[in-house]
Amino acid sequence: MLQLDFFPRTEFKSLLDFQRLENSSLSFKDKDLLINYPDFFQSPKANEIISRQHSNLVDKILGVRLKYIEEMLVAEARGFEPEGPHENLGPAIHQGVQTWVGLDLQTLQTPYSEILRILQLLKIRPYQHVIDLGAAYGRMGIVLGGIYAKNIFTGFEYVKSRVDEGNRIFRELGLGKCQLFTQDLFAKDFKLPEADVYFIYDYGQVEHINHTLKQISVVSNTRPVKVVVRGKFTKKIITEHHPWLDLKYEGKLGESFSIYTAFTN
Ligand SMILES: C[S@@+](CC[C@H](N)C(=O)[O-])C[C@H]1O[C@@H](n2cnc3c(N)ncnc32)[C@H](O)[C@@H]1O
Repeated sequence: MLQLDFFPRTEFKSLLDFQRLENSSLSFKDKDLLINYPDFFQSPKANEIISRQHSNLVDKILGVRLKYIEEMLVAEARGFEPEGPHENLGPAIHQGVQTWVGLDLQTLQTPYSEILRILQLLKIRPYQHVIDLGAAYGRMGIVLGGIYAKNIFTGFEYVKSRVDEGNRIFRELGLGKCQLFTQDLFAKDFKLPEADVYFIYDYGQVEHINHTLKQISVVSNTRPVKVVVRGKFTKKIITEHHPWLDLKYEGKLGESFSIYTAFTN
């Protein structure tokens, strides 16, 4: 059982346990203890609705200003696009790039519990480097930095306000090996850094994802890589155009990610 300053016997058996923490002002030391504790990132139930509610509570406990920042982005985009579906909002303010402004807050990012599961399945070794391509607020960095403190996390994200908030949280939680960069992954001058694991959750249009997968294939000529893919879109592109990626783990019932490996040397 976790010993926090105000809650000497903290358990994570139901959403109520998380709500209790949400309503108290936790010290940095307490937050630090929480993110080192895998149960904190584990949803009390495996179903999608509870996982999202759990993630929402974790964001609030850690103080991620997700709602405020997303509302500001929506307000800005509605200035250009007063009517119409949310799919038009991101492209309206981000040079045509699909940044998913206006999407449900807990659909925009992978639930914490799913990230925990992915990292456990990857059997990540110390000092390995994980890159999230289209990282939003860098959730994967919070889980990796908390539980696998020796690993390095880099997230690339188009929207600067998401990057700034994610980096603020990394600093506050003392996650010195985690960093987000404002970057258009499709930019001509962007060179994908080498890493052990790449994570893609439907970040952009087909040609963008194709472009990124080609860059990963170049890296896989020199070192083994794992590619974690979330969302139907990217999986379809891989099946149709990227046979060099070997499917190693296909998400079980209710899991929406797959893991591929490659070492094409
Ligand atoms: C569906 S979200 C996934 C967030 C995160 N990877 C996760 O799973 O929690 C996709 C993110 O990719 C970003 N994105 C879309 N196109 C991009 C581009 N060309 N370059 C960088 N980021 C991009 C979006 O702004 C959005 O934050």
